[in-house]
Amino acid sequence: MSKKILVTGGTGYIGSHTVVELQKSGYDVVVVDNLSNSSIEVLDNIEEITGKKPHFEKFDLAERDKTDNFFKQHPNIDAVIHFAASKAVGESVEKPLLYYRNNLVSLINLMECQIKYNVPNIVFSSSCTVYGQPEKLPVTETTPRKDAESPYGNTKRVNEDILHDTISANPNLRGIALRYFNPIGAHPSALIGELPLGIPQNLVPFITQTAAGIREELKVFGDDYDTPDGSAIRDYINVVDLAKAHVVAIERLLNGKNRQNYEVFNLGTGRGVSVLEMVKGFEKVTGVKLQYKIVDRRAGDIEKIWADTTYANEELGWKAEEGLEETLHSAWNWEKRIRGIQ
Ligand code: NAD
Ligand code: WQD
Repeated sequence: MSKKILVTGGTGYIGSHTVVELQKSGYDVVVVDNLSNSSIEVLDNIEEITGKKPHFEKFDLAERDKTDNFFKQHPNIDAVIHFAASKAVGESVEKPLLYYRNNLVSLINLMECQIKYNVPNIVFSSSCTVYGQPEKLPVTETTPRKDAESPYGNTKRVNEDILHDTISANPNLRGIALRYFNPIGAHPSALIGELPLGIPQNLVPFITQTAAGIREELKVFGDDYDTPDGSAIRDYINVVDLAKAHVVAIERLLNGKNRQNYEVFNLGTGRGVSVLEMVKGFEKVTGVKLQYKIVDRRAGDIEKIWADTTYANEELGWKAEEGLEETLHSAWNWEKRIRGIQ
C-alpha cells in the first residue's frame, strides 16, 4: 500500500510542486489548505500533470477542532509536510499577531494531533531568513541563527524551536526542517507556478509581471552594496528541485535513515546571484527587454547570502540540478500562460 502524506498548504506555490513530485514517486497525497493564498483550480492543474487529483480538504489549521477532526477522519497518515503559513514579510510587520497566530498555532495544532493520533513524521518549511546577515559565507546548517528582522522571520525561528523541543520530549516523533533559500520558477508544464496576490514583493514575480506589461518598471533596491556589481546577492533555487528535496526528506524519515530525531538542512544551489545578474539573465533567456531603475535599498534587506549545500548533497543525497536560465525561462512561461501571452 502506498504511504499517505498530508501536505498542508498543498495548493500553494511550493506545496503544489511538491504534491506533483510526491504523486510521481507513488505517494498517496492528502492536501489541506484554507485557500487564503491559493486557489482550488490548482488541484485540476496538478491532475493534468500527474493524472491524479489529490484528496483535498479546506479548513484553517489554526482551528484546533477542525484539525483534530481531520486526523480522526484520516487515521492512516504516515507523514506531514507542513507548508501552510502566511509569508509576506512586510505584512507581518503591520499585522504581527496575524502572523504569530497563523504560523505558530497551526504548527502547535498539527503537532498536538500528531502526538494524539500517532503520526510520527513531519517535514517543515523553514527559511534562510533565520540566518539574517551571516558573518561568514556560505552558510552552513551550524551557522548561528540571528534575531529575526520581521515577525514572519521570527515565526520561522520559533517554529524551529517548537519542532526541536517537541521532538526532544516525544521520542516517537521525527522531524526535518528544510531551510529554503530563494525559491523561484515554475513547473516545466507551466500548469502550476507562483501566483502572488496584489503587487509582488519578491524579485522574480516582479520581473515577470514587468515583462508582461503589468508593472511599469522593476525597482532594483540598491546598487551600493559590497558586492561585485553593487546589487544584493541571493541563492535562487528552482521550485521543482526544491519540491524533490521534500520527497527525499520524506523517504529519509519513512525509512528511518535520519541520524537524529530532529534534523535541519539548507536547500539552495550554493551559488550567489546578484539582482542585476538576474535582470540580465532574464533578458538573455527570454529576449525581453526589462524596464528597470536603481532605487534606494529596501529597509530590512540583507546584503548577501548563499548556502553551503554540502550537508544536503552528502547526507540527503539531494542536489539542485536546474540551471538559472532554465529556471527563469520556466517563470516566464508560467507568467505568459496565466496572462494569455503568446
Ligand atoms: P504560499 O502562500 O503559496 O502557500 C502557502 C499555502 O498555505 C497557501 O495555499 C495558503 O492558502 C495556505 N495556508 C496559509 N495559512 C493556512 C492555514 N492556517 N490553514 C490552512 N492553509 C493555510 O507560500 P509558499 O511560497 O508555497 O510557501 C510555503 C512555505 O514555505 C511557507 O511556510 C513559507 O513560509 C515557506 N517559505 C517560502 C519561501 C518563499 O520564498 N516562497 C521561502 C522560505 C520559506
Ligand atoms: C530578492 C532580492 C531585493 C524585489 C524574502 C523574504 C525571505 C524569504 C524569501 C520566506 C533582494 C531585490 C526584490 C524588487 C528588488 N521568504 N528586489 N526589486 O528579500 O531575499 O527574501 O523572500 O521565508 O524571508 O525576506 O527575496 O525576492 O524579495 O528579494 O531589487 O522589486 O531582490 O532587494 O535583494 P528576499 P526577494
